[in-house]
Amino acid sequence: MEHLETLYKQALDELGAIGTSDMLDEWERRYIGRKGAVTLLLRQTGQLPPEQRAAFGKRANEIKRALEEAYTAHAELVREAELARSMEEGALDVTLPGRPVATGGLHPATQTLREIYAIWADMGFQVYRSPDIETDENNFTLLNIPPHHPARDLWDTFYTTTPGVILRTHTSPGQIRAMREFGDGGTKPIRVILPGMCYRYEQISARKEIQFNQVEGLAVGHNIRLTDLKGTITDFARRIFGDDRPVRFRGSYFPFTEPSMEVDVACGLCRGAGCQVCKYSGWLEIAGCGMVHPVVLQNGGYDPAVWSGFAFGMGPERVAMLKHGIEDIRYFWANDLRFLEQF
Ligand code: PHE
Repeated sequence: MEHLETLYKQALDELGAIGTSDMLDEWERRYIGRKGAVTLLLRQTGQLPPEQRAAFGKRANEIKRALEEAYTAHAELVREAELARSMEEGALDVTLPGRPVATGGLHPATQTLREIYAIWADMGFQVYRSPDIETDENNFTLLNIPPHHPARDLWDTFYTTTPGVILRTHTSPGQIRAMREFGDGGTKPIRVILPGMCYRYEQISARKEIQFNQVEGLAVGHNIRLTDLKGTITDFARRIFGDDRPVRFRGSYFPFTEPSMEVDVACGLCRGAGCQVCKYSGWLEIAGCGMVHPVVLQNGGYDPAVWSGFAFGMGPERVAMLKHGIEDIRYFWANDLRFLEQF
């Protein structure tokens, strides 16, 4: 009986000091659980001499019930205290300003491409896309460059493991696709631009990359002449670089145009004085162009006796370099944020 009373007092004292539900669980197990000290004592009632049993059993039951009640009451206190504590710890100041969302920007090449699209759209040219992965036939043969023709050396090509399939070296194969798709058997005029990535197996330098964008242009119609080409390109150059930037045309050679020209714009980096980017010439080439070769018109389904056209292929990265004074083309695909964030 004495042991029982001691245990009772001890249990109450301990319970009063408990502040967490973990400790509460442990206390419950220790005193009033299935194997708790009080429970075990109560169960031993039968081993006492018969005359003591009734009094002991009664008292033990009282104590057990009292402890259970104390436990329930204290558990409530602990739960409330824990809730209050977690409310305080997890408190959220909803009046704090939010963190700014980092917004991305458009790549300078994309920005320039969009400016170029807008100008050509203004002149009635529609954007058409043709694939980066091309057939040798579209990229060369149908552009009047048969297999083994030495002009193939003008474009150092990435070949795939599939014979006849290459990465396009220029956007000109899109001319064939556009004529065949929109020409309606060589009966409809065409005005399109064809933007996209091109690939060349070349030594990378400040002016040359192995991948770069081109914007191809194609106009097919009646009575289209070289003067139309020169006027259109000059107008484009004025719109994108401003009225005062000198532009010049140089006679050149491409198998798919005749005659052919290259378009130079005065180098904006050195203002014509000569620098690494313009190879000390004061000019930077931004496009190749010419009158569509009769063989190419024919391959596109047009009768060259009735139809004529002009085509050009320009380098938007070169355009961006001139506009912004970027002195190395390798910046474009290097993904250096210090460069990209300037645009
Ligand atoms: N495809 C030529 C090149 O990449 C450029 C060009 C396009 C020239 C259209 C004439 C006409 O070099």
